Amino acid sequence: MIKPGDDFSTRLRAVQQSLPSLPAPSADAQTLSAELSARLIAAMTAAGGSLPFWRYMDMVLYEPGLGYYNAGCRKLGAEGDFVTAPEISPLFSRTLARAIQPVLADVEGGEILEVGAGSGVMATEILAQLAADDALPGQYRILELSAELRQRQQQTIIERVPELAGKVHWCDSLDKNFNGVILANELLDALPAHRFMIEGSVARELRVAHRNGHFVWQAGELVNERLISRVQQIEHENDSRFGEGYVSEILFAAEDWVKTAAKSLSSGMLLLLDYGQSRSVYYHAQRNQGTLSCHYRHRMHDDPFYYPGLQDITAHVDFTAIADAALDAGLNVAGYTTQAHFLLGSGITDWLAGETDPLRQLEYSSQIKKLTLPQEMGETFKVMGLAKNCNATLPGFMLQDMRDRL
Ligand SMILES: C[S@@+](CC[C@H](N)C(=O)[O-])C[C@H]1O[C@@H](n2cnc3c(N)ncnc32)[C@H](O)[C@@H]1O
Repeated sequence: MIKPGDDFSTRLRAVQQSLPSLPAPSADAQTLSAELSARLIAAMTAAGGSLPFWRYMDMVLYEPGLGYYNAGCRKLGAEGDFVTAPEISPLFSRTLARAIQPVLADVEGGEILEVGAGSGVMATEILAQLAADDALPGQYRILELSAELRQRQQQTIIERVPELAGKVHWCDSLDKNFNGVILANELLDALPAHRFMIEGSVARELRVAHRNGHFVWQAGELVNERLISRVQQIEHENDSRFGEGYVSEILFAAEDWVKTAAKSLSSGMLLLLDYGQSRSVYYHAQRNQGTLSCHYRHRMHDDPFYYPGLQDITAHVDFTAIADAALDAGLNVAGYTTQAHFLLGSGITDWLAGETDPLRQLEYSSQIKKLTLPQEMGETFKVMGLAKNCNATLPGFMLQDMRDRL
């Protein structure tokens, strides 16, 4: 647990001692991590001794050639560090393909833009389903920052749906005047998060410094007005002050990304699927150590300083903040519900009912359970639809409308 007032290196050592069961990285991976650490230390020195946590997270995930998403190690799937919904089951993506068809039908020349497409498996399943339903859009665009993942996506698409590969185009930024559906599964949680701690009744931005060969937490003296004013807003809305030592995250980068996406959308819907909560749950007094989690070879822990660049780091999404950012940017909240309700409302069980092979039925049934049961991904993950100039109604949002909880 982070304790106010210390430099957190004691906690760091405690965490490292509690992680002996994590498999050791290869010698090559350790070299990459050491190079990235040297670059982090140089950046800290240039910035006067420390970096805000969001900048540390940005570098360990996205530093060219060295960051987690840019350095060539396998991330998604059984051989990687974590598994996402499209990797668990093709039914997830096929159900999404059905779910978005009302938007494609409502919008003139509606296309799909997937942001942060991982291994590319979601794109292949969506395209295959849309082809089967005779509802293919003119183009399926992918915006992916990682050059390595972009290559993997191209390979997946060529291998799995070669006849549809011509539909897929990669872009380097959000297009202007986009009509259709912008899809992002587990994108927002992978964007750099700001972290704060209440110390002396004041919200201080958590920073990262380097001491005695370790990265350590520091409660920043520098005032971050945006962060302080957000913390005050949360306290006001939740009608209670955060306690001493309370630690949590604010995903300003995710909010800013939604505003940029809103500008690029002419008509259609931004569909966000991610793990997160509404504000009152996110910043509950009992969740006093935040939502940050790290994934390394399918083990979850809370030490973001473990082998920089070799593990994934994520934070939950405050969906109230995302809805506020969207409203500010001229979108309306067309729906907000749990992943379970969205998938069930969009007909995920139809595939089970239509399957005659008993083995396949068993497989589908276990995959649907993983995606929808509350103790699995069903409730932690939420789906939010943000619309502009679009009147489509998505059945996925009709089973349980949670917009009043935002
Ligand atoms: C956690 S992975 C999710 C991958 C995939 N959507 C899935 O569900 O399997 C996050 C993805 O977002 C990409 N990414 C991160 N920031 C991005 C940005 N600003 N624009 C586009 N892609 C981004 C990463 O490279 C990675 O592909």
